[in-house]
Amino acid sequence: MGYSLLLSLLVLAKATATLAADTVTENRSIDDIHKAALAEGGVVTCWHGGDEKNRQDALKEAFEKRFPGMTLNLTVDLSKYHEVLIDDQLTNDNVFVDSAILQTVHDYARWKDEGALLNYAPNDFDKVHEAFKDADGAYYGIGVFGWRIAYNNKKWTGDPIQDFEDFLNPELKGRIVSTYPNDDDAVLFAYDLIMQKYGKEWLDKLIQQDVRWVRGSITPQTLVANADAKEAATFIGISPSLGPDVNTTLPTDAQYVTWPQTAAILKKAPHPEGAKLLHNFLISKEWLFTSPKTTVRTDAPADYPDIFKTPNTNVTAFGPWIADRERVERLRFWFEKKLGTPQGLSPLDDDL
Ligand SMILES: *[C@@H]1O[C@H](CO)[C@@H](O)[C@H](O)[C@H]1NC(C)=O
Ligand SMILES: *[C@@H]1O[C@H](CO)[C@@H](O)[C@H](O)[C@H]1NC(C)=O
Ligand SMILES: *[C@@H]1O[C@H](CO)[C@@H](O)[C@H](O)[C@H]1NC(C)=O
Ligand SMILES: *[C@@H]1O[C@H](CO)[C@@H](O)[C@H](O)[C@H]1NC(C)=O
Repeated sequence: MGYSLLLSLLVLAKATATLAADTVTENRSIDDIHKAALAEGGVVTCWHGGDEKNRQDALKEAFEKRFPGMTLNLTVDLSKYHEVLIDDQLTNDNVFVDSAILQTVHDYARWKDEGALLNYAPNDFDKVHEAFKDADGAYYGIGVFGWRIAYNNKKWTGDPIQDFEDFLNPELKGRIVSTYPNDDDAVLFAYDLIMQKYGKEWLDKLIQQDVRWVRGSITPQTLVANADAKEAATFIGISPSLGPDVNTTLPTDAQYVTWPQTAAILKKAPHPEGAKLLHNFLISKEWLFTSPKTTVRTDAPADYPDIFKTPNTNVTAFGPWIADRERVERLRFWFEKKLGTPQGLSPLDDDL
């Protein structure tokens, strides 16, 4: 046996040895998984974090078009509500969710420790950045999400709003909208990072701007984009593109929040093949490489931004930050004392 072959076998043995004994490494084509998912019943139940019911309609449409006969049974709700109901299903041994795709990234290590997740490496798992995946395939990032500045250039004709400091401009008084930081942990992290740079004075000055505090993280950008609302600017925008009236920018004067939206298949999922099909699709080139945007894959085309080279954000910082529940809770109550409890129904509770 040649030395280099021996070496590759050793390297392979080492790579394989890092996977847990029960990790299933996918070896079928996506079309064969499609056949298996159809034979299983053609459904996959996915709970996705977000705060507009139709927020993931593009995913549902693309998935069902690509895989005829499949239904993506999708429920969008705030990750913090999905997580506790998944815990109920686990406690009661009544798991009916197949795939959980949430912002609450701290849940996954715990669920893995509890033996609740399927160790499964989809096709191209080796192309997912190390920092975004569990080595055993229990969970992995499927997309890079984050907050950006958004302002309406019809409502605001002053200097471009590019930085957090720009929100203290007195001319913006009464025209800023933000999610309550004590309603969403990723928003809380945004405030924490800004105040690490500017101190509590920045917040006191922001409060004096008569900010409209809302629930839900889509609400600010919706109000900014809406020609009839007076709010012109937010730094809790999520979509890079909101039409010609809205400019979006990434702030440069302090760190801003990005995180890997993370996905896992429940071990007791009623539709494991459907879930595998969904997860293979979510990290596939055909889904991720449609237009230049940040991605969890390491083999993106050259014109795709590399989140690890993007200044002013640290995509791996959110995980340890949100996992420190004691600190998060203290901070949340600190904001609650300053701003009061979040008022109004959560956007998805309007039918309660
Ligand atoms: C494919 O993976 C399955 C499940 O892990 C395994 O049983 C099977 O032997 C593998 N087939 C090939 C050709 O590697
Ligand atoms: C769709 O998901 C809901 C929960 O989100 C579940 O109650 C329902 O049974 C699922 N439908 C199918 C066909 O599996
Ligand atoms: C704001 O967006 C408009 C429309 O996309 C664009 O023409 C303009 O250059 C942008 N302004 C800034 C300051 O980026
Ligand atoms: C990003 O955050 C992680 C976790 O807090 C930390 O270990 C790492 O050093 C940070 N990276 C940079 C470039 O600051």
